[in-house]
Amino acid sequence: MSQRMEVYGCTRCGSSVIVRRGGEGAIACCGQPMAIVTELESIEKPPEEDLMEAPAMEHNLNMPVKTVMEFIQKRMANRTTYFGVVAIKNPMDFWVYREIIFEVKPDVTVEIGNAYGGGALALAHILDNMGHGRLIGVDHQHQTVPQFIRDHPRIAFIDGDACESFPQVQGSIAEGETVLVIEDSSHTYENTLNVLRTYSPLVTRGSYLIVEDSNCHHGVDIGPRPGPYEAVEQFITETDAFEIDRTRESWFITWNPKGYLKRIR
Ligand SMILES: C[S@@+](CC[C@H](N)C(=O)[O-])C[C@H]1O[C@@H](n2cnc3c(N)ncnc32)[C@H](O)[C@@H]1O
Repeated sequence: MSQRMEVYGCTRCGSSVIVRRGGEGAIACCGQPMAIVTELESIEKPPEEDLMEAPAMEHNLNMPVKTVMEFIQKRMANRTTYFGVVAIKNPMDFWVYREIIFEVKPDVTVEIGNAYGGGALALAHILDNMGHGRLIGVDHQHQTVPQFIRDHPRIAFIDGDACESFPQVQGSIAEGETVLVIEDSSHTYENTLNVLRTYSPLVTRGSYLIVEDSNCHHGVDIGPRPGPYEAVEQFITETDAFEIDRTRESWFITWNPKGYLKRIR
């Protein structure tokens, strides 16, 4: 008997599946029962000093927001997982993504920069729950992404540089499909601006081009400078098709300040 959310692997072909609805009977692959997987692919543990423990909130209510953000950054960068897989996403922003995806109902979500695939899987699960849409993930490589994510029926990964891979991404989107793009790759000024210029035509009216980690040096003291924040500021001077939608920053704490770009025409 299988239980919801159990993970099973095939010892013959290496496929893995997640149980969405448990039930009687064996789960089989390659003509034999699949084995329950107790551990997903091992995650390299960060050094102890990076596992900064947040102090008790109720005793630190006057802590500066900047210090709070440092704790969140450490937590995000070193200990954040989704279904056991590293996901480098701020949970408050991720809730905003849920809201945007439900409102926009994109046919295609493009995530640029996938790393271990936890973010891509979390996005695909929103699409699963809506029963609509697919995700295209672009990264230099996807060897770090567990097989069960690569096998997810809504996910297609493209290996390569984001901008160089653009023709392949564009070629896999049909005319008239609604498109949402999330940029989360190198965060250098040059690459972010290049991604914005290259991918913005794909984004459909009413949908978003989301730039992650624009809080580099505008919230946390890490990352490239100039970085994504400055790339957004430059990009927005070059286009009248997008506006910065600051209503999407209403948690106050965001990893994407000025990063929610709404296509308005
Ligand atoms: C911050 S991680 C992505 C995290 C992921 N989105 C998540 O939610 O867990 C950045 C990723 O971008 C990829 N990357 C960096 N520069 C890139 C480029 N020019 N083209 C494609 N991928 C790139 C890196 O290989 C890395 O895996």
